[in-house]
Amino acid sequence: MPKGTFYLTTAIDYANGAPHLGHAYEKVLADAIARHRRMRGDDVHFLTGLDEHGQKVEQTARKAGIEPLAHCDGVAVLFRDMLALLGISNDDYIRTTEARHVRVVQDALQRLFDQGLVYRAEYTGFYSVRQEQFLLEKDRAPDGSWPAIFGEVVQLTEANYFFRLAQFQPWLVSHLEANPDFIQPRFRQRQVLEFLREPINDLCISRPKSRLTWGIELPFDRDYVTYVWFDALTNYYSAVADKGRWPCDLHVIGKDILVPPHAVYWPCMLRALGLEPPRRLLVHGWWTMGGSKVSKTQEKPADGAPAPKPVDALQLARDHGADPLRYFLMREMTVGQDSEFSLDLFRIRYRTDLGNDLGNLLNRLLNMTGRYAAGVLPAAAADEAPEREVRDLWSATAAKFLARADGHEFKEALEELWVFIRALNAYVEGRAPWKLGKSADPADKARLDSCLAHVGEGLRLVATCLAPVMPTVSARLLADLGLPAAVAYEGALGWSSAGLGLRLADKDILFPPLDPPNSPAA
Ligand code: MSP
Repeated sequence: MPKGTFYLTTAIDYANGAPHLGHAYEKVLADAIARHRRMRGDDVHFLTGLDEHGQKVEQTARKAGIEPLAHCDGVAVLFRDMLALLGISNDDYIRTTEARHVRVVQDALQRLFDQGLVYRAEYTGFYSVRQEQFLLEKDRAPDGSWPAIFGEVVQLTEANYFFRLAQFQPWLVSHLEANPDFIQPRFRQRQVLEFLREPINDLCISRPKSRLTWGIELPFDRDYVTYVWFDALTNYYSAVADKGRWPCDLHVIGKDILVPPHAVYWPCMLRALGLEPPRRLLVHGWWTMGGSKVSKTQEKPADGAPAPKPVDALQLARDHGADPLRYFLMREMTVGQDSEFSLDLFRIRYRTDLGNDLGNLLNRLLNMTGRYAAGVLPAAAADEAPEREVRDLWSATAAKFLARADGHEFKEALEELWVFIRALNAYVEGRAPWKLGKSADPADKARLDSCLAHVGEGLRLVATCLAPVMPTVSARLLADLGLPAAVAYEGALGWSSAGLGLRLADKDILFPPLDPPNSPAA
C-alpha cells in the first residue's frame, strides 16, 4: 500500500453512562489500525470523542440534579481516563458541545436550508421517548403493540424540519453498488442494500425546544434544536473542517449504529453538502457476557435467566497493564462477529499465548545468552536446515501478517504471528542449547550461537509486528534486546543482524503469573 494520509475515527460515545468493555474494544481496534498505519508510514489523524446532546443525556443530568454540561464534563473525564488507561493514541478528542463543532453543525444546517434541502412540515405519529424517535408501522410487534425496546410510546403532532433524505436514495444505492468495499465486512454492505430496497423517508432533523433544550439550536429557527444524530455524525467533519483531512478514510463503528445512521444518513448528508462520502466503514460486532450485549446496564439474557454478574473488564488493564487486555480483545474477536467475554478466556490467553509462548521465549533467550554468551547476542555462526526453516517461515509470516493487518484483521494477523512464535519455541526445543552448551565440539558451539542469534532476531521481528496491538510490551521487548522502540515496518521486517553483538537485559518477566483462580485476588 502506498504511503499517504489516513484519517480515522471511532463512534463518539454517548455521555449518558460510564465507559465499558464495548467502548474500550472499539477504541483499541481503531488504535491498532492507527498505529499500524503509522508503522506503514502514513500521516495518520485519529479522532475519537463524546456525543453529549440529546434527551437521554439531559434526563441523566437532571436526575443527578446537575446541569447537562456539568454532567458531560464529568463523563468526559471518565472516557478520557479510559483512553489513557488503554494507551489510545488519538490525535484529537471532540466533544459535541465544543464551539468548533456547534459552528460547523449550524453552518451545515443553514446551507441545507438555503438550498431547499431542509423544509418544515407538520407530522403526527407515535414517538418513543426512550429511543427519541418517531416510530413507523413496521416497528410494531406482530400483535400490534410496541416492542419493549421503545419504552413509553406516545402520539404526538409536531411541526418539524425535515432533511430531503429520500431524494438521495438512488445516488446512495449506486454508490454502494459501485464501491463493494465501502462497508467492511461485505455482508454488512449487502444488509444495507437490502434495507434500501424499500423507499426511505425524509429525515426529521429537529426537536422543538418545548420537548428538548439540550441540543444545538437550528440557525434558522431558534425554537428548535437539532436531532442528536444529525449533530453527532457531523463530528467527523467538524473536527477536521479546517485541517484539510476530508474525506475520512475509515469510520470504525459497532453494528448497532450502521443502519440507518452511518450507512444512510451520513453519506446522504455529505452528498447534500457537496462533500465526498467517507472511504470506508469498518463495522464490528458486540462483546457479550452470558450471551447478552455488554452495556451500561447489563441486559438480561434472552432466555430470562438471571444476568451474569457484570465484570469490570477495564479493571484488567488496571491490574495487568493495557497490553494483555488489548491483545485479548484483538486476538479473540473476528472483526464483524460477536464475541463472548469472560475472565476465564482472558486468563487462558494470558497464560498460554502471552506467558508460555512469548514471555517464556524471551526469558529463555535472556537466560541462555547470560549463561553461554556473557549476555551479548552472538553472531549466527552455523546455518543449517533448522535455521533456514525459521527464516523461511518468517518471510511467509511477515507477508501474511501485513496483509491481514492492512485488512484490519488483527485476530488473523496475530494468529500468523503466533504460529511463528510457537515455531521459534519448537526450534529452541529441537536445538536444545542446554545440551549444546555442554559439548566440547566447536560445531556445537556454532550451533548454540546461531540458535541464540535466531531467537533474538525472531523476537525482534515479532516485537516490531506487535507494536500496534501491544505497544508497551513491544517497546519493552525491544529494549530487552538492546534496541529502540519500533516506529516503522519499512526496513525492519526483513531477517537481519540488527541485534547481534548487543547486550541483552539480564531478566524480564513480561507477563507475571496470574494469581491462582481460587485465590481471593483472582
Ligand atoms: N453516540 C452514538 C454514536 C454516535 S457516532 C456519530 C453511540 N454511542 S454508544 O456509547 O452507545 O456506543 C459507542 C460505540 O460503542 C458504538 O460503535 C457501539 O457499537 C459500541 N459498543 C457499545 N456497546 C458495545 C458492545 N457490547 N460491544 C462492542 N461495541 C459496542 O452509539
